[in-house]
Amino acid sequence: MLDSTRWNGVGMIVTEGLTRRFGTVLAVDDVSLEIADGEIFGLLGPNAAGKTTTVRMLAGLIGASSGRALVAGLDVTDPSQVREVRRLVGVLPEEAGLYGDLSAARTLEFFGRLYRMSKAARSERTELLLTRLGLWGRRDDPAATLSKGLKQRLALARALIHDPQVVLLDEPTANLDPEAASVVRDVLLDLKAQGRTIVVNTHRLEEAERVCDRVGILRTRLLRVGTPHDLRTAMTKSRTIAIELETVRDSDLAVLRDLGADATVVTGNRIEIPLPSLGTSSADLVAALVAGGARVTGVSAAEESLEDAYLTILGDLA
Ligand SMILES: Nc1ncnc2c1ncn2[C@@H]1O[C@H](COP(=O)(O)OP(=O)(O)O)[C@@H](O)[C@H]1O
Ligand SMILES: [Mg+2]
Repeated sequence: MLDSTRWNGVGMIVTEGLTRRFGTVLAVDDVSLEIADGEIFGLLGPNAAGKTTTVRMLAGLIGASSGRALVAGLDVTDPSQVREVRRLVGVLPEEAGLYGDLSAARTLEFFGRLYRMSKAARSERTELLLTRLGLWGRRDDPAATLSKGLKQRLALARALIHDPQVVLLDEPTANLDPEAASVVRDVLLDLKAQGRTIVVNTHRLEEAERVCDRVGILRTRLLRVGTPHDLRTAMTKSRTIAIELETVRDSDLAVLRDLGADATVVTGNRIEIPLPSLGTSSADLVAALVAGGARVTGVSAAEESLEDAYLTILGDLA
């Protein structure tokens, strides 16, 4: 059991100045973060942002160059505590890493034994997880014969076999079809309902939005932490509308200025207007231009996709 003297009681996961270099590459820089017991926390960031490195440090799989991280009060950078960390933490790594010849059931059996679970506990957890993940009917099939989506579900079952208190998931739905992704999300919500603390890495904003209580935007440094709602509000600020006219006349720009659109960018016959600076809709903008005699040939990307907006934020905060 946990030694309560080591437990600082602040958050289930606490990092202080957590930093990791690989040679000259600074992968994670000075990340200080606190994740509450029972929280689903999303680590959101583009490729090479340091998400995997962060999760591997939290799991005690690699050390930190400096700073420290406590998971359930255990110092994951202290090799003497790593065994205990393994028991408390379940990790879904970036690569599923299954043994192709082992059946789904035997995979879980094998990992259950590594965790020294009793035979009864192993078979109970195996049946529960395979059923929950829609794999029970495939339990005797070798992992290698499973589709990518089913392999990922099996990898998730493996991460959860020992019923860990803290679950670290590295891009759990990357490249999954929508059905498989939805099963994975449901399992995350189940875990949350059971009071587990979850860190989920993703480069997909709407994924983070759907399941996370809070999200941290990581790009080597932790740029911002907030609820998905905070994040969405911040991102609305970067929505733009692009209107194409046969020709852009001064009078058209005057019409837009009258509506408050003074931060427009004109490129050839295309006008880009940041929407939040206006109190008006894209339909009103177009109507006003047309009323002023403009010949509108196109209205495009009325709103940036959330993904684009998030990349814009990353740019703005860099
Ligand atoms: N084992 C390693 N050796 C050298 N460089 C690494 C290693 N692991 C990660 N990196 C580098 O660290 C940075 C962060 O990588 P990673 O944590 O995998 O990012 P993400 O998961 O956000 O895509 C990248 O520049 C990557 O090339
Ligand atoms: Mg990664």
